[in-house]
Amino acid sequence: MKVSQEQLERIREATNIVDLVAEHVRLRKRGRNFIGLCPFHNEKTPSFNVQEERGIFKCFGCGKGGDAFSFVMQMEGLTFPETVRKLAKRANIEIEGGESEEEEAARSERESVLGLLREAAAFYYRTLRGHEGIRAMEYLRSRRLEDGTLRTFGLGYAPERSGMLIAHLTARGFDATKMEAAGLIAKSSSGEYYERFRGRVIFPVFNATGRIVGFGGRILPDSSSSDKRRGQGGGALAKYINSPDTSIYHKSQILYGLFQAKDAIRRAGYAILVEGYADVLAVFQSGTENVVAASGTSLTVEQLQLLKRYTTSIVLLFDADTAGKNATMRGIELAIEAGFDVNTVVLPSGEDPDSFIRNNGIEPFRNALLHRQTFIETKAQFFEEQGAFRDPGRMAQAVRSIVETIAKVPDEIKRALFIQKLGERFHLSEQLLSTELSKIVATNREHEEHHRTIAAPAEPAEELFEERVPNSIPEQPQAQQAVSRTEGALLEALLHDPIAVAELIERADFQVELIRHPHVSELIGYLIQRVEEGDPPRVEQLLSEYRDRPEFQALLTTYGMALDAFSDQWDERPEESIFLTQARQAIDAIEREAIERRKQELKELMKEHPESDEYWEELVSLNDRREMRGKLLQQLGDEEG
Ligand code: CTP
Ligand code: MN
Repeated sequence: MKVSQEQLERIREATNIVDLVAEHVRLRKRGRNFIGLCPFHNEKTPSFNVQEERGIFKCFGCGKGGDAFSFVMQMEGLTFPETVRKLAKRANIEIEGGESEEEEAARSERESVLGLLREAAAFYYRTLRGHEGIRAMEYLRSRRLEDGTLRTFGLGYAPERSGMLIAHLTARGFDATKMEAAGLIAKSSSGEYYERFRGRVIFPVFNATGRIVGFGGRILPDSSSSDKRRGQGGGALAKYINSPDTSIYHKSQILYGLFQAKDAIRRAGYAILVEGYADVLAVFQSGTENVVAASGTSLTVEQLQLLKRYTTSIVLLFDADTAGKNATMRGIELAIEAGFDVNTVVLPSGEDPDSFIRNNGIEPFRNALLHRQTFIETKAQFFEEQGAFRDPGRMAQAVRSIVETIAKVPDEIKRALFIQKLGERFHLSEQLLSTELSKIVATNREHEEHHRTIAAPAEPAEELFEERVPNSIPEQPQAQQAVSRTEGALLEALLHDPIAVAELIERADFQVELIRHPHVSELIGYLIQRVEEGDPPRVEQLLSEYRDRPEFQALLTTYGMALDAFSDQWDERPEESIFLTQARQAIDAIEREAIERRKQELKELMKEHPESDEYWEELVSLNDRREMRGKLLQQLGDEEG
């Protein structure tokens, strides 16, 4: 699929960012901006700004910012192509023209399977609420599931009688091949089609955008005798069965409940991971909505990457049995490697979240959640239960295993804090543990470097709108070199009045190389070039050009937006002259700073080489130059005024 820059522009123009954001954030007008509570981090006073004319948003609290496209990508965890499709649809703009034939065929195949799955889900949903669903509904009631919860998760029932689903779907124009491709029916050994789900409560599995991609089905209690014809592997029926992986359902890449949970996850700042469908429903219904499950598979790296679009903090809340404990141990390693903050909640033995809530009530459950523990404590308890604390050799192994996990934590300060905790837990010297940690970190790093040198994948060619476009939201820019106030002011002026400020830079013969921040310098250079080419760009165009570069997005939103954040004070004066004045002052300051830095260097050099005149001469000429520049800038300023 290819979408041209013009089409993107049309979509952008047709999208009112205030309306779009207002679907998720309560906004109110302040000055020229709209402000509200940032949906990307927790805050009590609003620092989330939306600027209607420019079509951009910026949170001055957490730094996230961008245009309509990046808002939807980050808010809903969509890829860029998915976002473009969504916004195009919202704006009633046709974009499918740009597709190649194969792409179009693949998309329409996908759409038709998705349509079939939706129709099947509707069929199951209605069956649950009809005559044939009475027993299933009773069962769900006995599990204390409320109507609202059943609706939110689209629960249904697959009738026991054979052929009902096939008949229903056939009547709606779907053929058996499609049903098979969707994983709803399969061929028996005698060559006949049979329905995969029968006599089961149906849990539709939604992807993150709310499309149904598969199903899980649970047998009703005491129904084991009713279904001998296509027994799952002969003996007793499996409690749960799931759709097989299909062209659109990849279990390893889906988190059950994510679609329903994602807003709550973002609000809470963390996600709770449970084991089962029933657990998701019970926890969600209890009012804790930030809950998902990796159902049908054990937790995968892909699922963690998916979750990372919404949070980097996870609480593992698995069943309190052996399988659950093992899953917890594995989950800890995987999630930490994936860069998550990981905590766990350990339930009383034999319970799962669903049974715990049913047996104890919501308050005790909330309390249990508050008492989450670090992965260190969880691992320590795990080893302790295995008797590892009874002999020094095994205890050492246990401690080392925990240090190994700590070594996977990406943040150095966090590692140090965890080591401290571990020392306290085992009454061991922090010094000793730190030394051990450093060794492991160093070895890991060597391994990594080795991998990188032998397996560095070639970067795919840059092309707008390949699926390569970031699949996840861009990370917050690393805490890198901060932008100085003066350099920021120059960038801001240039962004707001590119033509006049570029001309000033030209006339003042300002050396862009003096700008020290690499991205600011690159951006300013690029802006000047665009002005020279007669094509001064707008902030929103730049945002889309720098789509893949979060560090530039951050700069553009910070300095492209600031005007409006501070504009109140500027009402009296014409804007052009403000930006020119600001730019002139910034240039002056940047040069003065550069000269001061060089002077310091020269003074050092003169101390080291007292015999040489060279440095002395440069110092004198610097002073002269400074004076000259000061005069020139003054003069340019006078011309403006
Ligand atoms: N599961 C599965 N296939 C099975 C058994 C389990 O896919 N044969 C998955 C289901 O997603 C299930 C989860 O693993 O929800 C956890 O299984 P389990 O703990 O056995 O079930 P519960 O969630 O406790 O289910 P229930 O409370 O309905 O008995
Ligand atoms: Mn259960």
